[in-house]
Amino acid sequence: MKKIITIIKGDGIGPEIVTEAMKVINTIGKRYHHEFIFQEIAAGGNAIDQYGTSLPKESLEKCLNCDSVLLGAVGGPKWDHVDPSIRPEKALLTIRSEMGLYANLRPAKLFPQLADASPLKESIVSEGIDFVVVRELIGGVYFGKRSTITENDELIARDEMSYSEHEIKRIAKIAFETARKRGKNVISVDKANVLDTSRLWRKIMEQVAKDYPDVNYNNMLVDNAAMQIVKCPSQFDVIVTENMFGDILSDEASMITGSIGMIPSSSLGDGTRGMYEPIHGSAPDIAGQNIANPIGTILSAAMMMKYSFDMAEESEAIEKAVHTVLNEGYRTTDIMSFGKTKVSCSEMGDLIIKYL
Ligand code: IPM
Ligand code: MG
Repeated sequence: MKKIITIIKGDGIGPEIVTEAMKVINTIGKRYHHEFIFQEIAAGGNAIDQYGTSLPKESLEKCLNCDSVLLGAVGGPKWDHVDPSIRPEKALLTIRSEMGLYANLRPAKLFPQLADASPLKESIVSEGIDFVVVRELIGGVYFGKRSTITENDELIARDEMSYSEHEIKRIAKIAFETARKRGKNVISVDKANVLDTSRLWRKIMEQVAKDYPDVNYNNMLVDNAAMQIVKCPSQFDVIVTENMFGDILSDEASMITGSIGMIPSSSLGDGTRGMYEPIHGSAPDIAGQNIANPIGTILSAAMMMKYSFDMAEESEAIEKAVHTVLNEGYRTTDIMSFGKTKVSCSEMGDLIIKYL
């Protein structure tokens, strides 16, 4: 097969981790006789520096004309004070929205080799952590109207949050379909005791749930969900929630696994073209030192192969190689523990290739 992959290295550690993932993709290409063509684009803070905007028009066009996008990370304190309309994050939001990627899947899975890295008690971790947050990605307060105005001599800021039936229905379907392939258990998270958007969310979720009698379905309020994720994470299989709740809960979910650097994510819409990225940020504090963990990005490439390219075998080969490297005791700084062998970002990439 021939696949065009748009590459966004981004800012901070982005270039280092994406370089390792590209090495892995190239190796898979040779091994399985696929032609992977990379088209690299500028987006994020580096694009602001170079072009005065975080997403040049040609960059967006290349995202819309490819088979999938692989992204490292964008943003950093250097661009904290630029105009909101060109902020690095704006590039990400525009790409998500223009590509129609409404379903963001963020797995929270404990690597048994790294169980002691979890901040949770052993008695909780030993029950297992293996769930996925299905986050609605192109609606809600992230994409509502916003304004800051002056009234009676003071500033007032507004952010509008809205959801329409069709937006809720399509993400509900993704959640139930995902659960069918996993533990057949969906928990929809909302704030229906306060918000109208949540009341509609719950109503539609309950309707869609009727089409999936084989999947267990429950609602949970978001504050309770935040608590339950640290108290008893083993109860979760699929959490489906709106954009901002999903942003917050998915960070919490990844943290409890103890290895935020290891977690990939996929963002998909109605077609097979998606965007894949590790869930961690650009980590400017360690950028350029070759010590970042490239595994989250490498596993994102594996997800791309499975979900967008229908290459299950290739995807599993990458996952297996990652497990072997961990079993052999190799660790990047963020997951290092006593008695293990510390390796750099590029050495980790090389090791994964060696075990492929
Ligand atoms: C994420 C990030 C983004 C988001 C930021 C960078 C805009 O936190 O992908 O979770 O809030 O969606
Ligand atoms: Mg986030």
